[in-house]
Amino acid sequence: MEDLILVTGGAGFIGSNFILQWIASEPARIVNLDKLTYAGNLNNLRAVEAHARYRFEQGDIVDREFFRNLLRREQPRAIVHFAAESHVDRSIHGPDDFVRTNVNGTFSLLEEARAYWLALSEVDRALFRFLHVSTDEVYGSLGPNDPAFSETTPYNPNSPYSASKAASDHLVRAYHHTYNLPVLTTNCSNNYGPHQFPEKLIPLMILNACAGEPLPVYGDGENVRDWLYVEDHCRAIRTVLSHGRVGETYNIGGRSERRNLEIVGAICDLLDELRPSDPAVPHSKLVSFVKDRPGHDKRYAMDTRKIERELNWHPLETFETGIRKTVRWYLEHEDWVREVTSGSYRQWMAKHYATEH
Ligand code: NAD
Ligand code: TYD
Repeated sequence: MEDLILVTGGAGFIGSNFILQWIASEPARIVNLDKLTYAGNLNNLRAVEAHARYRFEQGDIVDREFFRNLLRREQPRAIVHFAAESHVDRSIHGPDDFVRTNVNGTFSLLEEARAYWLALSEVDRALFRFLHVSTDEVYGSLGPNDPAFSETTPYNPNSPYSASKAASDHLVRAYHHTYNLPVLTTNCSNNYGPHQFPEKLIPLMILNACAGEPLPVYGDGENVRDWLYVEDHCRAIRTVLSHGRVGETYNIGGRSERRNLEIVGAICDLLDELRPSDPAVPHSKLVSFVKDRPGHDKRYAMDTRKIERELNWHPLETFETGIRKTVRWYLEHEDWVREVTSGSYRQWMAKHYATEH
């Protein structure tokens, strides 16, 4: 085996942050396998594209032969699996790609990883890891006073997205239980930060507010999410990869539960401060309540005591420090924003927000 890890989906939001952090902090090489769907963006990786320890490979995780050859060629000591279709609203409009990539794609990776792992020497077999990156949404929805999700909360996914992620988590678990494949699973709460595609709540609200466009809040805006700054998530994954117990799952979260209206309010306040001469000040006057998402989960919250206790991981950012960094990043990266909001993004916005609401 080489001192090299293979990541899938590294051109997306979390994967690209992970690669940048990895190159800055770890000695091992990293190969990024990504299909470059609408969510994959090589501009996220400009800073490392010519780095000696980084390499990009375009491909589809469903393609087993391609993945088999890649494993044979690169001989990684670990696979960190980010690649997925990740947006709940898109999964409601069209679930097919979610089943294909999230379920069939994860299955393909597991099958090829198992064959690769079995052919390793005994020493290398003991070192190899398959880390599967998943979400808190597999646990379903909480009432206002329910305890937070723990690693033993039964799965109860409600959207095609979360159902497809739950299916992939189950496959990963089964490959450990049945074949002893050395897997690790992380289930994380909502991330935010640089490089997030502006179909998700936080970047969408930042960009709409800057453009003086309506801020579409679903339903009554009282739904609650637990927000974690993306770099804290990436550090947690690195910690689990190096110290996590094989076969275990680890919940990751920011201990930062917020109602959607609080999130939108915080963004508007920051923009009032940072862009006081926008015509739309106060930006909060752009808030517009729109039709609710079908099956909209009310509340997510993560009990993160296991990763804190066992692996001594804690978030470094509070919501207040993280959201300030995030808003500033979007304001300072106009080229990135212009590039991702051209073309198919416009079609998505027109289809989802004009016809559905
Ligand atoms: P993203 O949508 O920004 O990126 C997904 C990446 O996967 C893209 O680069 C895309 O091109 C690639 N991809 C999609 N289908 C592929 C395929 N068939 N083959 C190869 N590559 C493919 O997603 P994200 O927000 O960065 O999420 C990454 C992972 O983290 C996902 O597994 C997601 O379920 C999980 N997660 C996300 C969050 C969050 O808040 N964003 C929270 C918890 C867990
Ligand atoms: P999102 O960022 O899509 O993440 P998830 O649905 O995976 O938690 O949405 C976060 C919350 O914000 C969720 O409760 C839905 C809500 N939301 C809006 O109110 N308006 C929007 O335009 C979007 C995209 C989301």
